[in-house]
Amino acid sequence: MGFIEKFVKQCRKPSGFFGKFVGKLMNFGHRGIRDWGISHVTISPQANILDIGCGGGKTVQKLAMLTPNGKVYGIDYSEDMVKLSKKVNRKLILKCLVEIQNGNVSSLPFDDNVFDLVTAFESYYFWPNLIDNLKEIKRVLKPTGILLIANEVYKHEKFEKRNSKWAQLLDMRIHTPDEYRNFLAEAGYMLIEIDEKAERNWITAVAKNK
Ligand SMILES: C[S@@+](CC[C@H](N)C(=O)[O-])C[C@H]1O[C@@H](n2cnc3c(N)ncnc32)[C@H](O)[C@@H]1O
Repeated sequence: MGFIEKFVKQCRKPSGFFGKFVGKLMNFGHRGIRDWGISHVTISPQANILDIGCGGGKTVQKLAMLTPNGKVYGIDYSEDMVKLSKKVNRKLILKCLVEIQNGNVSSLPFDDNVFDLVTAFESYYFWPNLIDNLKEIKRVLKPTGILLIANEVYKHEKFEKRNSKWAQLLDMRIHTPDEYRNFLAEAGYMLIEIDEKAERNWITAVAKNK
C-alpha cells in the first residue's frame, strides 16, 4: 500500500504513531474547510459548542477563540486523537474553556439540550447509523441549537473517480446535496441550508434543531 492509501485509510480512526502524524497533518490540511465551514454560522462569545470527531483538535481550538465566555467540547472515538487534541488544547483546557473526551456519536456523553452549536468536520462519512446519530445530536442541541456539517468531499460526477476510490478504501459514506437535505429532514431538522464550493468539491450543511 502506498503512502497516500495508508494516509487516507487512517482518516477513519487515526491511531498509533502514524495516526498521530495524520492527526497533525489534518490539523494543518483542514484549515480551509474549517474556516469556510465556520463562516456559515454566527457564534456568540457565550456559546456552548460540541465538535464531533475532533481529530487533532484544531477546530476545537479555533472555536474556543471565538467563545471566550463559553465552552467548547471535543469528542472522538480514537483514544490517540483524544490525546493529541488534549495536547493541542492544553492551555485552553487549563482555563476551563475546552474539554476533550473519548466518545462516539452514537451515544453522546452529554445531557439533553446543552449545546448552541454542534459541528462535524470531515467526520460524518464514518458514522455507524446516520439517521440515529443525527437524532442523537438533536437530543444534545438546545431547541434553538444548530448543527453544522462541513466536508471536503460530496457526491458529484466531476469528482466521481477520486471519490469512489476513497469511498472504497475507507468504507465512507458520500452523498449528493439533495441527499444531505433528505437525511437531515428525516432526522427531524428544520431550515436546512446546503452550500457548495463546487470547484473544490466542498459542502456545508447547516440545520436548526427546531
Ligand atoms: C477525517 S478525521 C477529521 C478530524 C477533524 N474533524 C478534522 O477536521 O481535522 C475524522 C475523525 O472523526 C472521528 N470519528 C469517526 N467516526 C466517529 C464516531 N462514530 N464517533 C466519534 N468520532 C468519530 C475519527 O476518529 C477521526 O478523528
